[in-house]
Amino acid sequence: MQTTDTTYDNVSHVNYGFQHEEQRPPPFAPPSGINPALPQYHGPQNPQYVHQNSPPQYFSERYSPAQSLHQYTPQTAPVNTHRTVTPGPYLDVNPVHKASRRKKWPFILGIVITLLVVAGVIAVVLWFYGIFDCLQGRRCKTDEKCVSFSQWCDGVQDCPSGDDETQCSRLFGSDYLLQMYSNMNQKWENVCSDGWNDNLGMQACEEMGYERNTYVGYEEIYSRASTDYMLVKTDSLGSSNLTGFHSKTSDCPSNKAVALKCIDCGRNSETRIVGGTMVTSKGVWPWQVSLQISRRHLCGGSVITPYWVVTAAHCVYENSDARDWTVYAGYLTRTEMQLATGNSVSRIVMHNFDPRTNENDIALMKLNLPLTITSNVRPVCLPNKGMYFTAPRECYITGWGSQSSGGSPSPTLQEAKIQLIDRTTCNSRPVYNGQITETMICAGKLEGGVDSCQGDSGGPLVIKENSLWWLVGDTSWGDGCAFRNKPGVYGNVTYFLDWIYEQMRRY
Ligand code: ARG
Repeated sequence: MQTTDTTYDNVSHVNYGFQHEEQRPPPFAPPSGINPALPQYHGPQNPQYVHQNSPPQYFSERYSPAQSLHQYTPQTAPVNTHRTVTPGPYLDVNPVHKASRRKKWPFILGIVITLLVVAGVIAVVLWFYGIFDCLQGRRCKTDEKCVSFSQWCDGVQDCPSGDDETQCSRLFGSDYLLQMYSNMNQKWENVCSDGWNDNLGMQACEEMGYERNTYVGYEEIYSRASTDYMLVKTDSLGSSNLTGFHSKTSDCPSNKAVALKCIDCGRNSETRIVGGTMVTSKGVWPWQVSLQISRRHLCGGSVITPYWVVTAAHCVYENSDARDWTVYAGYLTRTEMQLATGNSVSRIVMHNFDPRTNENDIALMKLNLPLTITSNVRPVCLPNKGMYFTAPRECYITGWGSQSSGGSPSPTLQEAKIQLIDRTTCNSRPVYNGQITETMICAGKLEGGVDSCQGDSGGPLVIKENSLWWLVGDTSWGDGCAFRNKPGVYGNVTYFLDWIYEQMRRY
């Protein structure tokens, strides 16, 4: 972490918001393991349409009607050199008439051939997309089965691995509204609180990827305007999936929705001097951990559940053996950690990280034994869908990183208050000139002076909203540290939500 008083001229600061919400229709969530998160399929939904828009090259070049006509049009009227019949008085031998009648044939033939070719091309395109991209539905992840849109989240498992019935519920907004995907309306709807109970709540949390024992509870809240609700039933076979089914407002007499809390997160003890750089009290950033190999601090991380820590993929890219790592939670100084045992790691899950571009710089560590939650060790909240953090929102970074470019790690935990920087500004020529993708967000100070630095990587970028702290980013990269126009770049945690939950469910 680097904090100096240096200030420089600011670059114009446009305030556009981050729109992390996914653009594609739910419930399908992006990224499984090696697949990049969004976007999924940019290709044509309707090949015919595309065909009309931009005829394939070969088609227009080789089979344009003009050319085929040309090919079949006799250049001159043929001369009969083998005439055996002497023209009689009623025979029309006028060469001009004959030629004009014959000329029509090639024309018609040309059109017929053109139409046949067009039909053929359409058939091939349809076949191609029908086979390879599952026109009226989506493919199951684990196999090539194509399941229609109306079969997703309908309570019946159609994919052999069941992925058409996972990711059918989500938490929305900073008040944790529980939503389920209505396959009838093909949209997300709030869940009616009538008939809801803690058992259903635990089940929903578990399906999302949380452990049963972190469950907090639910609240009934009046939901704004939205008229449609989902009612929930448990699978009759007793299998684990909750099924929501669409209902009319009249089916939800309370007219209240469920707000579901799967884990007590984002709370800290606010006893610090804001704006200071050295963290003097434990429990201010209780989710901050130090990730070490052979007692050497290498990276930061954030506790999101007693078992799971979020860090940067580049931290584990070359050290991906879980057994090498130790996680230290609940400490302020590196000397304290030297005396402690720390927690061993059972698994490292790395996203599809590209070391060349720093794309998808996020990873998860699962601990062998769960952390004991105390006032000094607590999870931070993962953002929910529909939470928009916009520049120049105030945020905090913390870590044991070096206090100057190229320096050695800091002996005590440091914090700094910075601001989100919108992607357009961050991608502008004087800043990062187009290197910032949607898997990243920028934060810092364009005038320089305050930034994260080497050794802070993987650590948290957090924002306070609705009196809770939310993990908005994981420290990823930057050009030097704290230079003017070179703010810190962080992994865009909101963007990775589906990936994170998927891994927590899987392992
Ligand atoms: N990659 C660095 C690390 O491994 C973090 C760099 C952050 N740089 C910055 N200017 N914010 O610790």
